[in-house]
Amino acid sequence: MTETGPVQMPFGAYHKRDVPAHDPELTEVQPGSPMGEYMRRFWHPVCLSEELTDVPKLIRILGEDLVAFRDRSGRIGVLQRHCSHRGTSLEYGIIQPKGIRCCYHGWVYDIDGTILEMPTEPEGSRIYDTVVHGAYPAFERSGLVFAYMGDPEEKPEFPEYDSFTRPEGTKIVAFSNIYPCNFLQAFENVADHFHTAILHNGMTVDTLDEATKKSITLGGFVGLPTVHWEAARDGNGLMFVSCRRNPDNQTFWVRSIELSFPNFIQFGALYGAARRQRHSTVALSRWHVPVDNHNVILFGWRHFNDEVDPDGEGDESRCGYDSIDFLEGQTGGGATRMASGPLATGRP
Ligand code: FES
Repeated sequence: MTETGPVQMPFGAYHKRDVPAHDPELTEVQPGSPMGEYMRRFWHPVCLSEELTDVPKLIRILGEDLVAFRDRSGRIGVLQRHCSHRGTSLEYGIIQPKGIRCCYHGWVYDIDGTILEMPTEPEGSRIYDTVVHGAYPAFERSGLVFAYMGDPEEKPEFPEYDSFTRPEGTKIVAFSNIYPCNFLQAFENVADHFHTAILHNGMTVDTLDEATKKSITLGGFVGLPTVHWEAARDGNGLMFVSCRRNPDNQTFWVRSIELSFPNFIQFGALYGAARRQRHSTVALSRWHVPVDNHNVILFGWRHFNDEVDPDGEGDESRCGYDSIDFLEGQTGGGATRMASGPLATGRP
């Protein structure tokens, strides 16, 4: 059928049943895939610091099954899941003062994958010289564990944005939310900014009553914005500014948002109270980290300070695994809850 034929007819679903396939070049992230190899050129969060307890944490990132742990010396390890000896899952490993011990025959791996002990092998075994378990470099920062999963020869410096340390006195709170969609679906949603006026219509927004100098709650991320997009970072990013007329019909709320490819975003103020200011710093830094080709975890930092949250509307206790405080009251029932069940734990 052609576009001018029956396909466009009313009650024409019969002619539109084919679902477009995903674009593997942009959305598949397994080793060797174009986007997967591109993603591996960057540092990504892989879990929250608080998820590293006295037992190893099984994670899946970029389609790879891994085990993350903090050894009893405080060092972070991110190792391939299956033991180099006979494939036991290191999820069941025992955390050591230095490294992790496989529960099956007791091999101990250091955080870089080198073998420290092999209690079942004869003294002088050549395995020490010939086997190194797969490991990725990792470190902790402000409640997130970052890992680099690319070619060791190409490892970049961790990018230091000024928002990570300014303004002085900012409190950073780490969070993670998992979504059952590929990373691009969640990433491009941000640049599709007009959805905020509809989907987030119920978000709490307030304005200042000039007569009483008190905040008035209006309810809603109200009003269609005017949006201007510009390419940034030599084509490796996108910056856009959205401007809304405030309900007082005299002032405007201007927000700026930056997307740095392939998966990093920084947002301006999230709360309506910030409308009273001409400018605010970053309120949220977020990495969209593919679990695999069908799931993504949004890891990030919330920045709490007087510029982005002048009235203290934020609720740090709701910046955790499965809820988002600034979506409180959003229309559409249940939209403040993320995926539940096994996905919510970040477990493969
Ligand atoms: S399977 Fe891990 S030590 Fe044997």
